[in-house]
Amino acid sequence: MALTRPLGAAVFASGGGSNLQALLDHETTDPSWRIGLVVSDREGAGALARAADAGVAAHVIATKGRGADELGGEMLETLGGHAVDVIFLAGYLKLVPPAVVAAYRNRILNIHPALLPAFGGKGMWGMHVHRAVLASGATLSGPTVHLVDEEYDRGPIVAQWPVPVHGTDTPETLAQRVLQVEHLLYPRAADHVCRTLLEGARPGPMPMAGDYFALVSGTGAAPQRLPGDG
Ligand code: GRF
Repeated sequence: MALTRPLGAAVFASGGGSNLQALLDHETTDPSWRIGLVVSDREGAGALARAADAGVAAHVIATKGRGADELGGEMLETLGGHAVDVIFLAGYLKLVPPAVVAAYRNRILNIHPALLPAFGGKGMWGMHVHRAVLASGATLSGPTVHLVDEEYDRGPIVAQWPVPVHGTDTPETLAQRVLQVEHLLYPRAADHVCRTLLEGARPGPMPMAGDYFALVSGTGAAPQRLPGDG
């Protein structure tokens, strides 16, 4: 069935949901997606309160002690009931069941707070990521938006933005600097992927145009030049 504008989006979140908020707050005159559902695995997730404030339907789908088949079935039923075309993972800590990945192939995005493929995979979430970056001595970090496949943090990369690591950083200060950029990057990467899907094409890397430099200046993440950017 052909996709129609705006695509119905679900956001999956386990935590506070600041990326959910950035997606909810993203305004365009001609939206290619609209959030109609928030899914969490945790009753107390701050993301659920944000959904309620925004008047968006929210479902808790508990994962504990449940197999991937049962979980996948419940998710697909819920997603179908809300006409969901695309899924944005925003701090969702569980693996998406294979049946959902298969049904939404190339239509699930995730944001990760480091430059994948480094510092990703099972167990690499939250402060674990930023601690590992600091321990490695890396001088650059930054968020990655990627398509989701059957493994944690492995699918094709859609967008990345380099954020400097300072010698004085703690995991918390680095997390904060990266998070500011996540909030700018994720909605734009979602636009890019959804527009591509609406054209009937397969999503690829997002062109990082000059105006992106203006966007990140003032976030504490100094504008960076990307390789090949002159
Ligand atoms: C973000 O750092 C995101 O990159 C990671 O989980 C965190 C979620 O934060 N996947 P929030 O709940 O959106 O504030």
